[in-house]
Amino acid sequence: MCGIFGYIGDKEALPFLLEGLKKLEYRGYDSAGIATLHKGKLFVTKCVGKISELETTLQKKPIGGEVGIGHTRWATHGQPSHVNSHPHEDCKSELVVVHNGIIENYLELRRELADRGHDFRSSTDTEVLAHLIEEKYAGNLLLAVREALLLVRGSYALAVISENDPQKIVAARSGSPLIIGHGEEESFLSSDIPAMLKYTSRITQLENGEMAEITATETRIYDQHGKSLAKTPSLISWDPESAEKGGYSHFMLKEIHEQPSAIRKTIEGRVEADSHKIHFDELNLTEEEIRKVNRVVFTACGTSWHAGLVGEYLFEQLAKLPTEVEYAAEFRYRSPIIDENTLVIAITQSGETADTLAAVWEAKARNAKTIAICNVTGSTIAREAHGVVYTNAGPEIGVASTKAFTTQLTIIYLLAILFGKRRGAISEKEATSLISDLISLPQKVERVLQGESLIETVADTFRSATNALYLGRGKGFPIALEGALKLKEVSYIHAEGYPAAEMKHGPIALIDKNMPVVVLAFSGRRYEKTLGNIEEVKARGGRVIVVASEGDKQIASQADEVIYIPQTSEALSPLLAVIPLQILAYYIAVKRGCHVDQPRNLAKSVTVE
Ligand code: G6P
Repeated sequence: MCGIFGYIGDKEALPFLLEGLKKLEYRGYDSAGIATLHKGKLFVTKCVGKISELETTLQKKPIGGEVGIGHTRWATHGQPSHVNSHPHEDCKSELVVVHNGIIENYLELRRELADRGHDFRSSTDTEVLAHLIEEKYAGNLLLAVREALLLVRGSYALAVISENDPQKIVAARSGSPLIIGHGEEESFLSSDIPAMLKYTSRITQLENGEMAEITATETRIYDQHGKSLAKTPSLISWDPESAEKGGYSHFMLKEIHEQPSAIRKTIEGRVEADSHKIHFDELNLTEEEIRKVNRVVFTACGTSWHAGLVGEYLFEQLAKLPTEVEYAAEFRYRSPIIDENTLVIAITQSGETADTLAAVWEAKARNAKTIAICNVTGSTIAREAHGVVYTNAGPEIGVASTKAFTTQLTIIYLLAILFGKRRGAISEKEATSLISDLISLPQKVERVLQGESLIETVADTFRSATNALYLGRGKGFPIALEGALKLKEVSYIHAEGYPAAEMKHGPIALIDKNMPVVVLAFSGRRYEKTLGNIEEVKARGGRVIVVASEGDKQIASQADEVIYIPQTSEALSPLLAVIPLQILAYYIAVKRGCHVDQPRNLAKSVTVE
């Protein structure tokens, strides 16, 4: 949450800062600001609203300088307002700070600083940093930042520039991500990699506790004790195009359409084409350790948690392993009963979600083996877990997760087969047939995408709804939850996902002609029962939209609208069934005029608890 971008080099900083912030806007977009140093003087511009507002303001009154930092905000402390926008200044307006995270002891620090005569302008936690650095400054900005941070509790990624030390950006990280990009005669600083891919693919990740002194040509990194560290930059292989919209009106739509290739890339290199053998060298688990696992716990937040729910069904069915799914924020504060034979699988697109990270730490502290299923290379959770399996979906920019989800499901499916085989729960023959099903899946996803215009028409009938219910049984239940979440996130229609059988225990009271009910009724052993639920909705005047398997002729007479998906095994049906629901949510949001890629109040990466 909150995005930071910095530039120092031989060119005007402003265009880089605006461009970088636009790419980071998914992290927060209630207000934004930029500060530059021009001929040794600080210039600050901020405003409430999106980066486009800031851009308009800056077009009228540009600020020059070849050094600058910018921030796009997702408010935690202090409402979105001009004064609460970053960058924050010290009393003398000689230095500015941008910050992502939470300073937990800010009230106490603020009181002490105010007693010593510091003048506070905002109600943010961040402003204490500016005043602390001001107080500690004695000719060396890096030292002043380090000393200030010694007094701070909480999480931060921050960047500081100062009139007193105008040829550098000082950055520090504890908890929230921060990446340095190395160009020719210029350096960048960013909260994520895609925002600077256009300029450089040579990057250095700051680790927790590290600080950096960045000039145009050099970056010096230090640990928290001030010891200089030799870090070798890594080369990122993502192509810059993958972080652009590529002709689609929104990233969400582009990412929905990228699913066939994303799933293919996720399978590639992990499944042998001829023998269908699965390889997961990155698990960092020996054969013996795999066999010893006697319990699996998935932990995650948001959409990734829904992937964990599907994982519970798949691991129980295919690996015959007791499996649980936990919201990361709950897991970390309970007293989970786990030991060295428990496998904790953290699912996270970003690899930076604060609660999921803390859940991994908790699992490690209790000696469990940990694996991260993650999309962002080198992210914090990817580095913290014992093993990491990358989803290879490419950058996901739309706040509502789509391709990350289906690639997470792809990995989980493969892992469940692998564990099933190693534990003798499924035969070689069964495994081969399950893998063949997966290999044919991307083509089936393409066919679902061909039905986009029909789903757009269905969205028309839905656009003025105020509530919606999503029902599913078995593996359809997590998909009902995910469908409802997608709709809520992007269209602001209140929606709930329910196991279809539970409808009678409450939600049925809500059903009337104004309540669309989306039912997942693909073939499988629960199909007949689901038909019964559809009848119950129809009997109460509800409007039923069904996602059914191709060839199901019966369903058309029972439903108001039917969206067909190709036939596939029950184990893979969640992967196909979710796609129409993503498209449906997308078009409903577009028709309601919502800001699809940046829904209100949400952020792509939740790096605060
Ligand atoms: C936020 C995003 C969701 C995402 C969740 C977990 O809420 O808006 O799309 O599912 O965080 O994020 P992660 O990166 O850990 O998968």
